[in-house]
Amino acid sequence: MTELNGVLVRTAVFLMVEVLVQGDTQVGCVFGGSCVLPCHFQPNSDTILHWVRMKGNNDQVHSYYDELDQLGHQDPLYKGRTSLFHDQISGGNASLRLARVNLQDQGRYLCYASTSEYNQETFVTLIVRAAVSRVDIVLVNNTVTCKSGGIFPRPQLTWSVSPHPATVLQNTTEVHEDDQGLYDISGVLTTVYSDTESTYCCSVQNEDCARKARMRLHPPMQSAPKSEVLLPCDASGLDDITWTFNHNQTILRRQAGQEEVVETEWQQHIRDLSESGSLLLYVSSSAQSEGTYRCTLRYADKEDVTHIELKILQDPFEEGSLVALGVIFVVMLAVISGIVIFIIRRIKFKQKKTTKTSEPKEMIPGETSLFPLMYLWYETTEPQIEETGTP
Ligand SMILES: *[C@@H]1O[C@H](CO)[C@@H](O)[C@H](O)[C@H]1NC(C)=O
Ligand SMILES: *[C@@H]1O[C@H](CO)[C@@H](O)[C@H](O)[C@H]1NC(C)=O
Ligand SMILES: *[C@@H]1O[C@H](CO)[C@@H](O)[C@H](O)[C@H]1NC(C)=O
Ligand SMILES: *[C@@H]1O[C@H](CO)[C@@H](O)[C@H](O)[C@H]1NC(C)=O
Repeated sequence: MTELNGVLVRTAVFLMVEVLVQGDTQVGCVFGGSCVLPCHFQPNSDTILHWVRMKGNNDQVHSYYDELDQLGHQDPLYKGRTSLFHDQISGGNASLRLARVNLQDQGRYLCYASTSEYNQETFVTLIVRAAVSRVDIVLVNNTVTCKSGGIFPRPQLTWSVSPHPATVLQNTTEVHEDDQGLYDISGVLTTVYSDTESTYCCSVQNEDCARKARMRLHPPMQSAPKSEVLLPCDASGLDDITWTFNHNQTILRRQAGQEEVVETEWQQHIRDLSESGSLLLYVSSSAQSEGTYRCTLRYADKEDVTHIELKILQDPFEEGSLVALGVIFVVMLAVISGIVIFIIRRIKFKQKKTTKTSEPKEMIPGETSLFPLMYLWYETTEPQIEETGTP
């Protein structure tokens, strides 16, 4: 550090006239990535290079002289992250490569280059950017949630709803800063009623970039069990498509230049994925296939989601309905046996009445078969009459 200050002081005091000061160059660096801070000087012998962070004590970022990197006084924050293009220094390239850029790296840097001829100061301002890389939008129980994260600078979130903006009941946005200084953002939109045909569009943007997620609600669909159903999606030439079930189960993914990946548990249910992205699904039973299907298309600047609720119609031979079928059977059995018992009693009653006349063949009245339920009701009252009525 003292050595560096020595160089700077010497420059300032003795070589003031010869120092070239260049205007600041701004460099935008991607968070987590590598970045080159440009610096060019007139090459000559005895090259001395110093990269200095212009903050507080003007920390040493990277030094070079005697044709070697000199990192003895390097600020620990930059340890292992800096390098020069050694093979190009002799040609006047003093640019600094900085790896794993973080938010603390933002600020002004000095590139000091000294040769036997003259000295030069170049200033570079480093700005860190973390773009909106994806926006997720989901609908669960009349609540549309839009989320994104790892963004810098601070983003904003805006909604647009069509064709019924009046259905929006409540709309809130939360921004949270993570421990690296990046922002997570989430917006929640509550709708008035069970919306089945709107399109929700959520946009996350800051001064540098914007990204959208659009969700179209497809009218609910129905299917019978043990049959095929075509779930529509309109990818129109795009090759990054993902189908998911109940929001967090991936069914399949198709990406440009890659094999289509179908999750193991879905393989026997997927009959086809068309060019346009529509999914031909084999529905086995309601328990397995009923739910929300989502087709997500990923474009350069947006996500496009189709949300489909699939309802599976009841199969009369399915386990659940077998119980209902059993109940119906028992009830019918009871009714039939009731009728039979009634008829038998009726026969006996008539027999008692007709023994004297000995005409047992005319005992069955025609109306018995026409109104069995009426006679069922009679059954409870008539035998009493029979008991008391007969002498
Ligand atoms: C220095 O060299 C690097 C690597 O080739 C290059 O990316 C950079 O633009 C050069 N800088 C200048 C100022 O010439
Ligand atoms: C959605 O509604 C269903 C039934 O009303 C409930 O069981 C479920 O927990 C709700 N989900 C969420 C995320 O609120
Ligand atoms: C959401 O709320 C903001 C501010 O409260 C408002 O400006 C905006 O129009 C609302 N958006 C929708 C879709 O209701
Ligand atoms: C995803 O599924 C698991 C169970 O498989 C569940 O516990 C979790 O809450 C689900 N997450 C979301 C966001 O729905």
